[in-house]
Amino acid sequence: MRKQTLDQLVASGEKIAMLTCYDATFAKVCAAAGVDMLLVGDSLGMVLQGAENTLQVTMQDMIYHTRCVAAGAPETLIMTDMPFGSYEHDKEDACRNAQALLDAGADIVKIEGGGLVETTRYLAERGIPVCAHLGFTPQSVQQLGGYKIQGKTEESARKITQDAIDMSAAGACMILFEMMPAALAGHITETIKTPTIGIGAGVDCSGQVLVIQDLLGIYTGVAGKNPADYKAPRFARNFLAGSDSIQQAIADYVQAVKKKTFPAAEHSY
Ligand code: KIV
Repeated sequence: MRKQTLDQLVASGEKIAMLTCYDATFAKVCAAAGVDMLLVGDSLGMVLQGAENTLQVTMQDMIYHTRCVAAGAPETLIMTDMPFGSYEHDKEDACRNAQALLDAGADIVKIEGGGLVETTRYLAERGIPVCAHLGFTPQSVQQLGGYKIQGKTEESARKITQDAIDMSAAGACMILFEMMPAALAGHITETIKTPTIGIGAGVDCSGQVLVIQDLLGIYTGVAGKNPADYKAPRFARNFLAGSDSIQQAIADYVQAVKKKTFPAAEHSY
């Protein structure tokens, strides 16, 4: 079977079910469960490497895990995060690093923040599909003062809206919204032509993404800290609870996204 393109996926009119993935075995299971897109997220810094945040993840890490996922799911669309420090300083550097991720098996690269219009345009003009990650951007966790919902004030909502419009006009093929009011994400999704993916951004995005460990209820916080002190984020739902198998839990997530029963109001802001 040939890999479905993002345009074909969007044209199907169905909600897009995306999940993070970091290895070949899970990639195979996700593909068999009907996941539309896999995100090789730099969340691997936390869920695989046990760090506090994503800032220490390297290009080598992302290349390695993209190769693993592409080997396991060669027919599934793959998006890979550009790690902190690999795209912000110089657009030619960004282009070289993005190309290395495509060479490893990614179809789309994801960059964080709204101030990267020129970089997005530069990559898009050279045929590199770019997703812009807006709202809460984990690589800026220190500047944002922690894991905080974005877009709650009028000024912040206006900025996210303008960033989405600008990144879309610069050629971003997808916009990912993290931890922001559902009404705002829904409004921007209606306003721009570019498909949107939400995580803690309500049901009205074009699709949803979750970190696979959150979906399976197996992430209990940073290595070395007491798991009892860890509280899963509001937007996470444990689909493994009450399910027969990991593949069934993932398939249930896919169906819940398609039927718009996930995320519910209790998972949204
Ligand atoms: O790295 C990641 O897993 C992500 C998701 C939180 C969207 O960027």
